Amino acid sequence: MTTKVSLEDIDLSFPGPAGSDTRKVIYENFSLQIEEGSFTVLLGPSGCGKSTLLNIINGLLKPTRAGGIVIDGEDLRRKPDLSRQMAYVFQGPRLLRWKTLAQNARFGLKGLGVQPKAKWDELIEKYFTAVGLRDAMHLYPHQVSGGMRQRASIVRAWVNEPQILLMDEPFSHLDEITAAEMRRILIDLWASEETKRTIVFVTHDISEAAQLATDIVMLTPAPSSICLRRKVDLAWPRQLDSDEVIGLEKELRHAFAERAGIRF
Ligand SMILES: Nc1ncnc2c1ncn2[C@@H]1O[C@H](COP(=O)(O)OP(=O)(O)OP(=O)(O)O)[C@@H](O)[C@H]1O
Ligand SMILES: [Mg+2]
Repeated sequence: MTTKVSLEDIDLSFPGPAGSDTRKVIYENFSLQIEEGSFTVLLGPSGCGKSTLLNIINGLLKPTRAGGIVIDGEDLRRKPDLSRQMAYVFQGPRLLRWKTLAQNARFGLKGLGVQPKAKWDELIEKYFTAVGLRDAMHLYPHQVSGGMRQRASIVRAWVNEPQILLMDEPFSHLDEITAAEMRRILIDLWASEETKRTIVFVTHDISEAAQLATDIVMLTPAPSSICLRRKVDLAWPRQLDSDEVIGLEKELRHAFAERAGIRF
């Protein structure tokens, strides 16, 4: 097993309320290793620092102090270009409304600038086809459904063929049926490639974590620490009502209650 991302001894705090000289501590001596090719799910309550952690991994946010922010054995702070092998999928689709879905994907390609321009059209066609949007890719965002927009935002990241995909609650604003379909499409896309990309997927949804993850990292409320770390060795598609998935969800709920003091 190779470590793809290694956060070492991270401290992060933000200034407290105006007028106070206290600071809000989010992380203290926090370390996390993420395996290459894993589908790692960061699971934790609102405000514990999940989005912040993704921002640290791709260099958007500088922690107060860090022993290391290491990607492929090299420190991101000394080699900021390492962030160009990462792409981000946000909570909402964040598509440009005056561009078609395909043009939005081109915008993503231009933004990261890692794919040769001669390959752009081929990549766009390939990944829109893979998510079932081949016929809709020349439509504008307002002409398609919310689920289709979110699929397009996954394509916008995926066309870069990034080694690391950072996904911040990408399905949390969708209805449950559409979200379930999105999860299946995402797993199909990820599992179809021989060399698996490393996915770091943030959610506060226990059931979603149980459906997707090869690795689960459970975080406590801030100041945040890892209260459970577990591998999941179940094939996909995972049946929501199977004993294994129900058992895993139960275990995660118990862990939250026992180790983070949160009950559902
Ligand atoms: N720029 C900032 N300035 C001050 N505080 C911040 C800043 N960014 C984040 N925080 C605080 O850090 C904490 C963690 O924020 P973060 O957005 O990472 O939480 P989260 O786990 O992603 O929550 P959610 O599930 O609601 O998205 C929160 O308390 C937030 O208010
Ligand atoms: Mg967040």
